Amino acid sequence: KRHDNGLSRDLYQLMDEANLYYQSQLRQHTDKQKVIDYLEFRGLSAEVIAHFGIGFAPDGWDGLLGRYRQNQEAQDKLLTAGMLISNDSGKRYDRFRDRLMFPIRDRRGRVVGFGGRVLGDGTPKYLNSPETPIFHKGNELYGLYEVRQRHKDPQKILIVEGYMDVVALAQFGVDYAVASLGTSTTAEQFQLLLRNAKEVVCCYDGDRAGKEAAWRALETALPLLKPGDQVSFMFLPEGEDPDSMVRQTGKAAFEAMTDQAQALPTFLFDTLASKYGTDKGTLAKQAIALIEKIQDSVLQNLLLENLAHKLGMNGADDLKKKMGFRVKPAN
Ligand code: UTP
Ligand code: MN
Ligand code: MN
Ligand code: MN
Ligand code: MN
Repeated sequence: KRHDNGLSRDLYQLMDEANLYYQSQLRQHTDKQKVIDYLEFRGLSAEVIAHFGIGFAPDGWDGLLGRYRQNQEAQDKLLTAGMLISNDSGKRYDRFRDRLMFPIRDRRGRVVGFGGRVLGDGTPKYLNSPETPIFHKGNELYGLYEVRQRHKDPQKILIVEGYMDVVALAQFGVDYAVASLGTSTTAEQFQLLLRNAKEVVCCYDGDRAGKEAAWRALETALPLLKPGDQVSFMFLPEGEDPDSMVRQTGKAAFEAMTDQAQALPTFLFDTLASKYGTDKGTLAKQAIALIEKIQDSVLQNLLLENLAHKLGMNGADDLKKKMGFRVKPAN
């Protein structure tokens, strides 16, 4: 373990150096104008670029690598940190090339990974750091460190899909959004969110993938919920994401939309109702399968009560009897 800590310290140091390198390239590389043009096209202000430490990885195989030509040990560690790639013949080269760079910070502000966006069209649109000894995607939230810099104790946190969503929202004054990193929001990320704010608003893209992400998020959140936790869901018009939305509506109207977000139980029951309609039996079975995931018995009973009334029963006890719902043994 002691050895690992030494390695981690070196990895943090190298990630910090890489971050400073990418930021310097945005100021001084001969190709910088195309990046500045792209940033302008995306409407990002100098202030928000600086606040999130956005940088530029130049095209070429050895921009970052070249700075460690004489230092084999550092190169080995950059490989471990996911910043270099080694090909079949063992030749090393920069992972991130010709991309806009978003540093991902852990809760102590240390850079642990990057997301790199192509400047324009091209695939993959975003390239992310791989899992490394200091970067576990499912445990980090892009922007959480930056939110906590602005708000010691945020009341509400928005969870969005993308880097650009976080940055654009912050630029427009909605400076309490974070993004899960490419994957759907994990249980660990939800736990982290609920530890940091009383209210979590899920705001995924207004497309099919975004709607599916919202439902998966509901299923992930259910087992973690405690009384008083407020998780809600807001749905953007088709084709919009938080970035495009806040640019159209501005801060006040966007925040009004977050205030209108559907509470988790509403989203749950509305979705099942639209899926199963008048088939009350199936609806009840599906609802119970979800409610069973809730670990907190107070909250679980609240939702059962809610369901019972929707089904025209006398209450949770009536529902439990009719549906054969077994109460979990206390844990
Ligand atoms: P989106 O496709 O919605 O991209 O993916 P975006 O965030 O709106 O990006 P812009 O506005 O086109 O620049 C949402 C998130 O999914 C992950 C990224 O985290 C992205 O921000 N993603 C997407 C990837 O990791 N790789 C990809 O190739 C695409
Ligand atoms: Mn604020
Ligand atoms: Mn999308
Ligand atoms: Mn977008
Ligand atoms: Mn998007």
